[in-house]
Amino acid sequence: MKIAIMGTGMVGQELAGRLAVLGHDVTVGTRDIAATMARTEPNPVGIPPFSAWSPAHPDVALATFPDAAAGGEVIVNATVGSASLEVLRLAGGRHLAGKMDTVTALLTQLGHTDIIDLGGISTARGPEMLVKIWLELWDALGTYEFGIKIVR
Ligand SMILES: NC(=O)c1ccc[n+]([C@@H]2O[C@H](COP(=O)([O-])OP(=O)(O)OC[C@H]3O[C@@H](n4cnc5c(N)ncnc54)[C@H](OP(=O)(O)O)[C@@H]3O)[C@@H](O)[C@H]2O)c1
Repeated sequence: MKIAIMGTGMVGQELAGRLAVLGHDVTVGTRDIAATMARTEPNPVGIPPFSAWSPAHPDVALATFPDAAAGGEVIVNATVGSASLEVLRLAGGRHLAGKMDTVTALLTQLGHTDIIDLGGISTARGPEMLVKIWLELWDALGTYEFGIKIVR
C-alpha cells in the first residue's frame, strides 16, 4: 500500500520505518526537502534529525507535503499540532475519509491485537485525555515503556 506519513519527527520516523519494513511503499512529507536534509541538529528532546535517520532507511522516500499526499492511498498525520490543519488541508479531503478498515488493518500489522474503533476524528478528544494519567504513570514507574489496556 502507498502510505504518506506527514511529518519528519520521531513519530514520523518510527511509523515510516516500521511500515516500510512491513512492505509498504512509504513517503514522508515535509515542508522543504533541502532544508530538512540540511538539518543536522537533534530536536529539543534529543531526537536525531531526519537527515541522520534517512540513510539507514533508503526505501523511505521524502517529498513535499503536497507531493507525499498526492501519492498516498493512506495519509498519516505526524506533524506538530499547531500546523496539522494546514498540512492536512494540503492532503485534500478525498484522502481523509472512509478508511477505518484500512486503519484497523495497518494497526494489526503493527502488532495491535484488540482494536476498538471509537469513530471519527470528533472522538479523538477522549483518548487524548489519557495523556495526563500516562504522564503520571511515567513519573510513578520511572519509564514510559508501558501500555494502557481496556479490560472487558
Ligand atoms: N514525540 C512524541 O513522543 C509524541 C507522542 C505522542 C504524540 N505525538 C504527536 O505526534 C505528532 C508528531 O510529533 P513528533 O515529535 O514526531 O514531531 P513534531 O516535532 O511535533 O512535528 C514535526 C513535523 O511537523 C512539521 N512542522 C513543524 N512546524 C510546522 C509548520 N509551521 N508548518 C508545517 N509543518 C510544520 C515539521 O515539518 P518539517 O518536516 O518541514 O520540519 C515536521 O514534519 C505531534 O502532533 C505530537 O504532538 C508525539
